[in-house]
Parts: sequence; C-alpha cells; structure tokens
Amino acid sequence: MNLAPQVERYLPHQVLELVGTISREADRLGQRAYLVGGVVRDLLLGHPNFDLDLVVEGDALELAERLAGTTQAKLATHPRFGTAKLSCGDFTLDLATARGETYARPGALPTVTPGTLSDDLLRRDFSINAMTISLAPDDYGELVDPYQGKVDLEHGLVRVLHSRSFCDDATRILRAVRYEQRLGFSLEPETARLLERDIPMLRTISADRTRHELELILREKHPEHAIRRLGELGVLPEIHPALKGNGWIAGSFDKARQLSRAGQLPSLYLCLLVYHLSEQQNERFIERLNLPNSLADVLRHTLRLKTGLPFLNRPSIRRSEIYRFLREFRPVAIQSNVIASEFRSASLKLELFLTTLRYVKTSVDGERLRELGFPAGPELGIALRRLQTARLDGEVKTRAEEEKLALSLNPQGD
Ligand code: CTP
Repeated sequence: MNLAPQVERYLPHQVLELVGTISREADRLGQRAYLVGGVVRDLLLGHPNFDLDLVVEGDALELAERLAGTTQAKLATHPRFGTAKLSCGDFTLDLATARGETYARPGALPTVTPGTLSDDLLRRDFSINAMTISLAPDDYGELVDPYQGKVDLEHGLVRVLHSRSFCDDATRILRAVRYEQRLGFSLEPETARLLERDIPMLRTISADRTRHELELILREKHPEHAIRRLGELGVLPEIHPALKGNGWIAGSFDKARQLSRAGQLPSLYLCLLVYHLSEQQNERFIERLNLPNSLADVLRHTLRLKTGLPFLNRPSIRRSEIYRFLREFRPVAIQSNVIASEFRSASLKLELFLTTLRYVKTSVDGERLRELGFPAGPELGIALRRLQTARLDGEVKTRAEEEKLALSLNPQGD
C-alpha cells in the first residue's frame, strides 16, 4: 500500500519540505529512512501529528548531521544509542539507527544492538506503533506493516507483538491504556490478559520512568478515561494503593478544564488525583514517583490548604485575612481546592484571592513613605502592611486616601 497521498495531505508544508530533504539526503548517503511509530499510525487515522520519528537503515547520526547542516535545525545526538534529535521551530524530528533490543532483566533499559528494519519494528510496543512509511526515492510512501498494525487500527485494537512485551517494559501497561482510551480502542483480548498478568512488573520500573508515563497520561485531552481504566484493570494500586479512578475524578477533571489554563492542567490533575489521600499517603506517592520538589510542594500545599478550608469558611472573615492566609499557598494548590472543595463559601474566597486579592497593590510604597517623612526602620514595614490591609478591605480606595492614612500613621508626625 502506498501512503504518499496521505503524507502530502496530512503533513504541513514545512514538515513536507523536511521529509523531502530527508529522502534526498539519506539517498545521497546510501541510507534508507522511514517514518515510524506515532506519525504513521496517525496518518492512517487522518489525525495530525508533527512529531516525526525516523528509523534509518544506515547511520542515523550521520544523516542527522547532514540534515542539521542543510536545514539549520538544532541538533542533539546520543551516540551511545545511535539516536539524534533535530528541533526545527514547532516540531521535532527523532532519528534512530535501526536496532534490535534485548532486556537483561525486566524493567532494565534495553541493550541495543544494530539491527534490520524488522528487528527495529519487533522491539516496539504495539502493532499500531510498529509500522513505517518508506522515504527512499525508489519506494517513497510504501507502508511496511509486518505485524498487521493497519488491520488492528481498523478493528480498534491495541495489541502487543509478543507475550513478553509487558515484562520487558512494563511502562507499556500505562502506554497501552493511554492509546486505548485516547483512540477509543480496546485492548486485544490476549493483550488484556498479558497486561493483567504483568501488572506487578510495574515494580521493576524506575520512579522517573513511571512518572514520565503518568505525565503523558495527564497531558491527554481526557486523562480521566485512562485513569478510570487503570483503576478498572487494577493498575492504579501498583502506583499507589489509595489512588482511585472514580466518578469524582472524572467530574473534577472536567471542572478543571472548564476553569483553568491548558498549561496548568497536568499539575492540577495531579493535585486532584491525590486530593483524598492523607498527608502520609501523599508523601508515599511523591516518593513513588520521585516528583520534583516544586511539584511535590504543590501537592503538599493542596492537602494543607484542604485542612485549612474551615478557616476560610467563616462568614465574617475579612479580605485582608483571606489574602494573608492564602498568599503562602501555590496558585495551582488553591485552584485545585476551588475545584474540589465541598465548602461553597470557601471556594468563593479562594476564587476571590486568585482573581483579585493577589493582585491588589498599594499606590504608596516605601519610597513614598520616606518622602512623606517616615523614618527608616520597622515602623515603615508596619505602615506598609497597615496600608495594604486598608486597601484590601476597601477602607481606602485612592492614592490620596492612602497618603492621608499614611500621614496619620507616621510616628514622627503631629
Ligand atoms: N516505543 C516503544 N516502547 C516504548 C516507548 C516507545 O515501542 N516504551 C516506540 C513506539 O513505536 C512509539 C515510538 O517508540 O510509536 C515513539 O514513542 P513515543 O514518541 O513515546 O510515542 P508516539 O507513538 O509518537 O505516540 P504519541 O502520540 O503518544 O506521541
């Protein structure tokens, strides 16, 4: 089957030009280059995907260097693995020399040996990701599909290529569910059986790799589908025994999308995922995934704020008190409590802080206080804080009113 028309139709002009250059330069070097993996799958489905993966029969590094020279793309190479990455504006191109892989033990990083295109496809996760499109001029656009990935795409199936697949690399358990839910597919029955059998193999995967796969899930359009499915299959407890993929998660993720910026979503989803964990359970979750400090703090703030919500729920609380209480918390942790809190009145106060209070500034600053005759020293700080309280609580509304209040606070004034 020739997919040249799909390549022309679905790849944007800039990417097509690059594909043409790859085809020519590989041929000049006596190499054969193939598009592989996600881009082939998505071309067949008619979905856009501009992250190109290329497998090269020959030397991917040599080809990458040549391409970097002709296209001005930024080049990063990993000679040990025979891989290179070219970044060009909005899209990236990953190149790898065709290789075979063996696993010294389950979950270990693979030992890589040079191999044929067939070896390279056999080492991949699922049939739908194990197809290539040739870019060689003599058979440009030809689909290479030794494991019937196209048939599986047509039947909506995620299927592993051999029975040790999840043992070799248990991140594939998370990947299988991600693709299944993203594409609205099913796990092929034997694949589902192997997946359930090999769930304990997730323990062989490092915290960093597990976190990476979870992050990929949380970057999906509707991650709650994969989370629910992971719960249903019994995978979630392998990440943390208290994690749930229930209706509450679905509802709160949905609300998160309505209320928040796209860039904030993955960390917000993570906060919601741990929202019903105890602080101790949360610490184990942080450790299990080796979360970076900044993200770990967001999760800790989320749970700490949750226990502090009754303080905000008081009807008589002043705006300055809300401000002083909440300014210690990370905005994403506050946002997660807006979404998850059962206290309607506390939620409104959290929103008030996020939309308004945190931006309130006094017109009079320290320098102006000095001009107004304030002595340097602790009184200056106390006066600034008093002015801020007055601004937040609406006691002063204009610069003139602030200055009047400032003058009345000057210990050296009359
Ligand atoms: N791959 C694999 N096993 C893994 C990770 C990746 O076999 N554990 C292979 C698959 O062939 C996959 C390709 O490497 O298609 C590229 O991986 P990645 O960029 O993670 O996935 P994409 O297929 O590009 O999918 P996505 O749409 O999620 O980016």
